[in-house]
Parts: sequence; structure tokens; C-alpha cells
Amino acid sequence: METIVYFFSGTGNSRKTAESIAARLENARAVPIGAASLADFSGSDAAVGFVFPILMFGVPTFVLSKMRAVSAGFAGSSSKRYVFAVATHGGNPAASCDQIDRALKLKRKRVAHFSLEIPRKKFDADAYERRVSEISTFVGERRLPPFDSPRLSSRLLTVLVNPMGNAFMNPKFSAGASCVGCGACARLCPTGNISMIGGKPSWGKKCDTCFGCVNWCPSAAITGKMADAFRYRSPLASSAEELFVR
Ligand SMILES: Cc1cc2nc3c(=O)[nH]c(=O)nc-3n(C[C@H](O)[C@H](O)[C@H](O)COP(=O)(O)O)c2cc1C
Ligand code: SF4
Ligand code: SF4
Repeated sequence: METIVYFFSGTGNSRKTAESIAARLENARAVPIGAASLADFSGSDAAVGFVFPILMFGVPTFVLSKMRAVSAGFAGSSSKRYVFAVATHGGNPAASCDQIDRALKLKRKRVAHFSLEIPRKKFDADAYERRVSEISTFVGERRLPPFDSPRLSSRLLTVLVNPMGNAFMNPKFSAGASCVGCGACARLCPTGNISMIGGKPSWGKKCDTCFGCVNWCPSAAITGKMADAFRYRSPLASSAEELFVR
């Protein structure tokens, strides 16, 4: 049976993880989540997965909107379909699983939730490989992992802090004089929020603050609120080109 692994990735961890899971399975492919649509599921019994980062104690809003769209395409087959979600994070996924169940309109025990911590400092390649292999085995066998219900403190972070972050964190990115107009930022933005106008990037209003554009700009030309606080490139990727989605 086919497996489709949708990914949303800013700095590279989730994309590389999705590709790694797909490579370990038979008849599986990793697909940018921007390409997800209802039509993908008409007449198909494919297993469907989502791999994404935790941003400010929640699931990126773009991912949740795509999950809602895709779940409508499950109509009539949701009781049989295997659905999984892999949250990559730096140590605190909070109660993101609650957001996922709601967006997919599936009951708690219907979604295979996996948490994959990728520490920003001291990345342990062996531990990462072991966890990805473990997740891939669960997915390959269509099994649900044991589930720990989030604590109240985690739920408060996701219910209260996450929407505040989404509403108020506007990085107001701009490209400085060192921008060479290569378009890498526009090609890797997972929400399609960057257009090249007159050879320079222009940011729209659907930024999910993944900081992919800032961190992978080859000229370090992009500045914006909090840009220095979130300096990070996935240790799993070695070039911006590997992360292009368009
Ligand atoms: C703006 C921002 C907010 C983040 N918030 C959290 C968080 O609340 N909890 C956490 O564990 N990690 C957090 N992280 C870390 C990311 O979830 C982690 O690095 C993830 O693997 C990045 O995935 P990507 O490389 O596919 O974008 C945050 C990262 C960014 C850029
Ligand atoms: S990636 Fe950097 S150098 Fe390339 S167009 Fe974007 S801002 Fe300019
Ligand atoms: S504009 Fe930059 S930070 Fe915002 S979603 Fe796109 S790549 Fe991520």
C-alpha cells in the first residue's frame, strides 16, 4: 500500500526526516505540504503522514489548514486509513497532538503521534537515526505508538501562548544590500510567502515564522525581528537547494 509523507520545513529537519522515513518504506514518497489537496485521496487507500516543526508550542498554521483540507478528502475512508504525524522539535512539543486531532477530525486513538526531538545544540546523529528507524517501523507496520496525554501545563502553552505568538510575532523581514537576487528564499519558503519582484524578495502576509528564508540565505542578507534569536540550520541538510519546494 502507498504511503504519502507530507512535509513542512523551514530549517530542514522535517524535510530530511520525511525523506528519510519515505526512503525506509516501500512505495512511499515525501511531498511538500503545499501540494496537498483533496484530489490526492479520491479513490486511494494510501497511508498519509505529516512531518513538521513545532513553532511556538504548536503546529504551523499552514500545516493545520492543509490537514483540514486533506481530512475532508478522507470522507468515507477515515475509519480504515492509517494517518501519522511526526512533530520535530527542540525539546517541548507542548500539546500539538491536540491541534492535530482536531484539524484531522480524527479521534485521539486514530492518529499515530510521534515526537522527534532534534536538539539545536549537540545533535546526536546515532540517536536521530535510531528514532527515525523506530518511527519508520511503526509506520511500515501501520501501528499506533503508545500515547502519553499532554499535561495541563503543555495544554496551556498550546492553547494560550501559541495563538498569541501567531498573532503578534511579525518578523517584518527585509533583504539588505548583500542580497544577490538568487531567489533561494522564495524557492524554499514552505508557505509560498516570498515573491521575487525586480530581482529582490518581497514578503507577503502568510509567514509561519519557520525562519527558513533567514537561515538559508547564502548571503545572510535577511534581517527581521528575532532573526538573531533563531539562527539555526538543520544538521541534516547541506545546501539551500536541498530544501527548494518550487
Ligand atoms: C520560531 C520558532 C519557534 C520554535 N518553537 C519551538 C517550541 O515551542 N518547542 C520546541 O520544542 N521547539 C521549537 N522550535 C524548534 C523547532 O521546532 C525545531 O528546530 C524543528 O526541528 C525545526 O524544523 P524544520 O527544520 O523542519 O523547520 C522553534 C523554532 C522556531 C524557528
Ligand atoms: S536568498 Fe538571500 S540573496 Fe537570495 S534572493 Fe533571498 S535574500 Fe537575496
Ligand atoms: S517567509 Fe521565511 S519565515 Fe516566513 S514562512 Fe516563508 S521561509 Fe518561513
